[in-house]
Amino acid sequence: MGLFVVTGGSRGIGRSLVARLLQQGHQVIGSARGPAPVTSDRLHWTSLDLADPEAAQLWIGEALRPRPSPDRAHLILNAGMIEPLAPVRDLAASALDRHVRLNLTGAMAVAAGFLQASEGWGVERRILAVSSGAARRGIPHWAAYCAAKAGLDGFIRALAAETEQRGGPVRAVSLAPGVVETGMQQILRATPAPTQARFLELHASGGLADVDETAQAMLDYLMADDFGAHVLDDLREARARKD
Ligand SMILES: NC(=O)c1ccc[n+]([C@@H]2O[C@H](COP(=O)([O-])OP(=O)(O)OC[C@H]3O[C@@H](n4cnc5c(N)ncnc54)[C@H](OP(=O)(O)O)[C@@H]3O)[C@@H](O)[C@H]2O)c1
Repeated sequence: MGLFVVTGGSRGIGRSLVARLLQQGHQVIGSARGPAPVTSDRLHWTSLDLADPEAAQLWIGEALRPRPSPDRAHLILNAGMIEPLAPVRDLAASALDRHVRLNLTGAMAVAAGFLQASEGWGVERRILAVSSGAARRGIPHWAAYCAAKAGLDGFIRALAAETEQRGGPVRAVSLAPGVVETGMQQILRATPAPTQARFLELHASGGLADVDETAQAMLDYLMADDFGAHVLDDLREARARKD
């Protein structure tokens, strides 16, 4: 049976990932500020602010260490926020700092803690970072998000280049999931920004991806034999490659 760690598992894509993994019989370790999305004796849940990177790294170490070795260990770095949405001249240092601590520093700290704590198992570890198309192009009023997700891409690229890993092989991918109907999309529709009209139109025309279908496609991606072949990837492109 596989072991899966999911950050940001209380809502949106993360909630669906946790629910699906439990339905499929896996052991899940999850965290977000909010409560566990479901009750299960196979879910180890901790309510935590992952924008505190030291607390986030302590959490993952403590959650993994007392466990027996799984067949394979997986980490999905999913927790994220979109705000602040504003022109660069209006960005306050405190909002920038919180954004980067959640979307980048916290995720990097959890990945490091995951690799340390799982080293003794001697099994393959797979890390899937949830990136965004925003990592790979400039979007007005999204500067913090573009920067942090581009940073996450860079982190995963460097990790994937560390081919000599203690404790067994590591494969890592930074994957953009597409435009998915979650709370993050509600914020984008409600916040005045140059992109607001596009997201209102996408919603009105039924152009947003379904959260459960996206979560299942991400899990299929994570479990595939060729996971790691494309270190920076996009779920829509991955699907197109298969068609
Ligand atoms: N939806 C899209 O169209 C889209 C597109 C590209 C990429 N993404 C990425 O997909 C991932 C999931 O986003 P989503 O759309 O599912 O958004 P969402 O519905 O807003 O969910 C975000 C998740 O992150 C958690 N989170 C936020 N702040 C946190 C904090 N300080 N500490 C711990 N957990 C925190 C939330 O839980 P709590 O509030 O309970 O803490 C929630 O579980 C994100 O990395 C996002 O950037 C989404």
